[in-house]
Amino acid sequence: MEKGRPKISVIGAGNVGASAAFRIAQLELADVALIDILEGVPQGKALDLSQMCPISGSDINIVGSNNYEDTADSDVVIITSGIPRKPGMSRDDLISTNTKVVKSVTEQVVSHSPEAVLILVTNPLDAMVYVAHKVSGFADHKVMGMAGVLDSARFRAFISMELGVSVETIHASVLGGHGDTMVPLLSHTTVAGVSIAELVPSDTLEKMVDRTRNGGAEIVKLLKTGSAFYAPAVAAVEMAEAIIKDKKKILPCSVYANGKYGIEDTFVGLPARLGSKGVEEIIEFDLSDEEHAALHASVGKVRELCEVIDGMGIL
Ligand code: LAC
Repeated sequence: MEKGRPKISVIGAGNVGASAAFRIAQLELADVALIDILEGVPQGKALDLSQMCPISGSDINIVGSNNYEDTADSDVVIITSGIPRKPGMSRDDLISTNTKVVKSVTEQVVSHSPEAVLILVTNPLDAMVYVAHKVSGFADHKVMGMAGVLDSARFRAFISMELGVSVETIHASVLGGHGDTMVPLLSHTTVAGVSIAELVPSDTLEKMVDRTRNGGAEIVKLLKTGSAFYAPAVAAVEMAEAIIKDKKKILPCSVYANGKYGIEDTFVGLPARLGSKGVEEIIEFDLSDEEHAALHASVGKVRELCEVIDGMGIL
């Protein structure tokens, strides 16, 4: 069959999945298959989104379905399925349920789209990337997770609020696992090229770093029934866009570190160049000793979670 528009499948039609489909439609980026186990929900949301397209001027097809056959031949699959946190829970508390969900979803996805690039959004993020990689059997560069784009965006938002400057002039990179041990790189955080340390007093900076680390929990506490979704969804679609359009964009993502930064055999947040092949290169920034140590501590936490998963004996 002639290859038409690119295709992105979004698995999970909850808040993150539906918002991702909305963003893809707004950008007119690709045809969308929105999949969920709940009957009617993906169909209803896909229909609503299809009816948005004449207004947004987006010529794409959006299909909602409970059937993975509709995901066939996807270029990118964004996996959002699983349970979100409730107030007081850490992302790690989700591990048992979401490992089973991600395993089952990945098996079904890869049987219909053996060439796709997988972007995980389900928490605990880095551990779920490990699950999807192991279950799919895909090459390392074709499986990744969304966390660093979101965490960096949170840091940028807080800097913008503090300094009253456009978010567009702020560059930040948050590396490490998507949890309390994430590593906002102050050495690589700039406003119009000026180092953040020259612009913000260190105690204020420390508060912003803390707020970034707890950015997800702050929203969980406010929402009470779930976690953040607009920013996570748009972050995942930024990664998908870089792949679909072969943009070679450098974004912090959970990727397979094979010796880079001295990290072996772990999926964790690092700066990666994304293009049509998926992860095309991991970029090695110069880190301060403190940042290097914090990154390795974070890797240790991710590994602990992966060991818990191995202990479940289901992969
Ligand atoms: C957050 C969740 C999605 O950080 O992990 O908001």
